[in-house]
Amino acid sequence: MTRKKITIVDLQKRKTQGVPLTMLTAYDYSSGMLVDQAEIDIILVGDSLAMVMLGLDSTVSVTMEEMLHHSRAVARGATYAFLVGDMPFMSYQVDVSEAVRNAGRFLKEAGMDAVKLEGGQEVAPTVRAIVNAGIPVMGHIGLTPQTTSQLGGFRVQGKTAVTAQRLLKDALALAEAGCFAIVLEAVPAPVATAVSQRLPIPTIGIGAGAGCDGQVLVYHDLLGLFDRFTPKFVKHYATLNETIRSALTAYREDVVNGRFPAEEHTYPMETAEIEAFLQSLDNHQ
Ligand code: KIV
Repeated sequence: MTRKKITIVDLQKRKTQGVPLTMLTAYDYSSGMLVDQAEIDIILVGDSLAMVMLGLDSTVSVTMEEMLHHSRAVARGATYAFLVGDMPFMSYQVDVSEAVRNAGRFLKEAGMDAVKLEGGQEVAPTVRAIVNAGIPVMGHIGLTPQTTSQLGGFRVQGKTAVTAQRLLKDALALAEAGCFAIVLEAVPAPVATAVSQRLPIPTIGIGAGAGCDGQVLVYHDLLGLFDRFTPKFVKHYATLNETIRSALTAYREDVVNGRFPAEEHTYPMETAEIEAFLQSLDNHQ
């Protein structure tokens, strides 16, 4: 079967059919291409790039220009996945028209199909305005990394009956405002399942259990490329840090010990041409 570009209609159909959606982050041309080749449904150019690509302590300081720069590179590498650009902190909070303008830049300038933003009922009017402008929006509730200082750190959300109720209200408000999907991050599995069952749109879980309509992980976490810290919900499918480090060390040792480059890594030259060249050097002395 020929592969087709994933659309919002396909994503919604998968919820109806009960076939889990797959989403991964990617941050550049090569990661976008690999994730796309693995036939992942949605690629998120997440603002987590602030930490895993730029070495910052949190996602708070990453800028619109940086997000657009990485989004463009991913879009060049990915042909089929549905592409979502993460709106950075303060690109959608100040006023609604600025939020719409910034959301539009992800589509017009960076080849994204949609944007993601964090927050519940308080961002519903902004979501509605962006959707009314013709831009699909993915919501993100639960642990919202842009506002961890308000949440008191990287903590599980919705652990009490009251906060779980609030989470459900947030999810319903976002769906009502026009979101096509919602990320549920670090939420107890029974709460995420209940929310997923009550929403007309797909939920994508990260640390939210198997009752969500799809799952997302950060590229570097899945591959074992980032070991500054590992949240409980991460599953490492590879330990590439070790693989890469030992390959780089082997290269250094080969060069230092004269094992690289070998004969097969060099360009040959006709003997007569070498002799003529050496002769020309002698003639210049
Ligand atoms: O920025 C990101 O990578 C995210 C995912 C964790 C959902 O928001």
